Amino acid sequence: MPVTRRFPADFLWGAATASYQIEGAVDEDGRGPSIWDTFSRTPGRTLGGDTGDVAADHYHRMSADVALMKDLGLQAYRFSVAWSRIQPTGSGPVNAAGLAFYSRLVDELIAAGIRPVATLYHWDLPQALEDEGGWASRETAVKFAEYARILAEGLGDRVWLWTTLNEPWCSAFLGYASGVHAPGVADDAAALAAVHHLNLGHGLAARAIREVLPEAKVSVTLNLHVTRAASDRPEDVEALRRIDTVANEVFLQPMLEGRYPERLAADTAGITDWSFVHDGDLEAIAVPLDVLGVNYYSTGRVRHRQVAAPVGDGSPGPDGHRSAEHSPWVGAADVEWLPQPGPHTAMGWNIDPQGLTDLLVGLRDRYPTLPLAVTENGAAFDDVPSEDGRVHDERRVAYVHDHLEAVGRALDAGVDVRGYFVWSLLDNFEWAYGYDRRFGIVRVDYDTLERTPKDSALWYREVLRAGGLVPVAEAARLG
Ligand code: FCB
Repeated sequence: MPVTRRFPADFLWGAATASYQIEGAVDEDGRGPSIWDTFSRTPGRTLGGDTGDVAADHYHRMSADVALMKDLGLQAYRFSVAWSRIQPTGSGPVNAAGLAFYSRLVDELIAAGIRPVATLYHWDLPQALEDEGGWASRETAVKFAEYARILAEGLGDRVWLWTTLNEPWCSAFLGYASGVHAPGVADDAAALAAVHHLNLGHGLAARAIREVLPEAKVSVTLNLHVTRAASDRPEDVEALRRIDTVANEVFLQPMLEGRYPERLAADTAGITDWSFVHDGDLEAIAVPLDVLGVNYYSTGRVRHRQVAAPVGDGSPGPDGHRSAEHSPWVGAADVEWLPQPGPHTAMGWNIDPQGLTDLLVGLRDRYPTLPLAVTENGAAFDDVPSEDGRVHDERRVAYVHDHLEAVGRALDAGVDVRGYFVWSLLDNFEWAYGYDRRFGIVRVDYDTLERTPKDSALWYREVLRAGGLVPVAEAARLG
């Protein structure tokens, strides 16, 4: 197989999923309801009324899925733990059957030679905690650390890398400001309180894991937004600064520098006074990280608003996120998102691999000693199975190829990127878009739940075998 670019020998190749998106079995073995059960069952919240009740049925097919991962040659698997399987109401005693599922998963991964990368929270908060205020309440951060301790004790050093949170931006702003994600709240002040309590939960959970497992490697995964200003006019540059503040800096600075951005209080003055930040919180949040996980899909462009704010129509917005009547961009009402040039994926997100290089290089420039990993990257396309039973998803192959090339350019520039996880192993429940948007490198037939590796999976296997990029054209030959 011709190799067009070699990656470092110890570069880690993986795939990612999340509990609510693949597991199904929502009422089994003592699992308690999560905010996504409630949200997805509320009419009008998800496309087609889809829920995660069955999803990809991974809960029942876990062993076969691990065998599939082994067959694809994955070296690492990034999964998330459903908190409400471990503690059905988010606090109190351990539900042994729930913990046993993840214990079996990590054992089977290790037996297959695959490193388990466990995310503690990928958006499925126990509903009982939401009923007490959810992430807008400080108590949730405290309970999150108790849950982290249970997992550290239960899974122990079998977990190769721990990730506290996945994309806290989405939890805070899509969950509590725009409300297009569970719990579906539209309250800007609650969203900013959620930001802080997610940050605090991250710090407290990381500390709890290390108390149990002093050698544990701990990370967090952020969806840092790569946004550019439409011009260098001062008002457009200021629009970009406001977005960067609430998109990226509200997480990066507390977690990595132990402070909140200087102008955050002024930007959000009419919304909250930040009195929920207590003495000592920032020290607790700024725990040392072994790796920073970066999820990357597309880029955005902003300018100072020149027309009245549009009312959302539910379609993907030019910011690459789900648009809604309420904006997720708290404190940035005078910022306008511009449509991005194509090509676009089925999410309406523009394809811009150079943004990933810029992001990785920019992070290295700011935090030179911090190792990075791409913990999600991939694309939804309307795959159509061919007569031959295969899925010739050449656009997904090209997307992954071009983004790996972008990671390669960052490596060339000396950036310490440790690994890459394609999103996603399986077609799955894409949140508010239900089963309509397929991100898998493996197709899931939602009638039979049968798995079929797409050409992208076969091509990815060759990349992993070669330890480097192989030409996109090889995919057609393999499929
Ligand atoms: C990310 C999420 C992941 C999936 C991808 C497409 O924001 O972490 O669960 O929905 O987007």
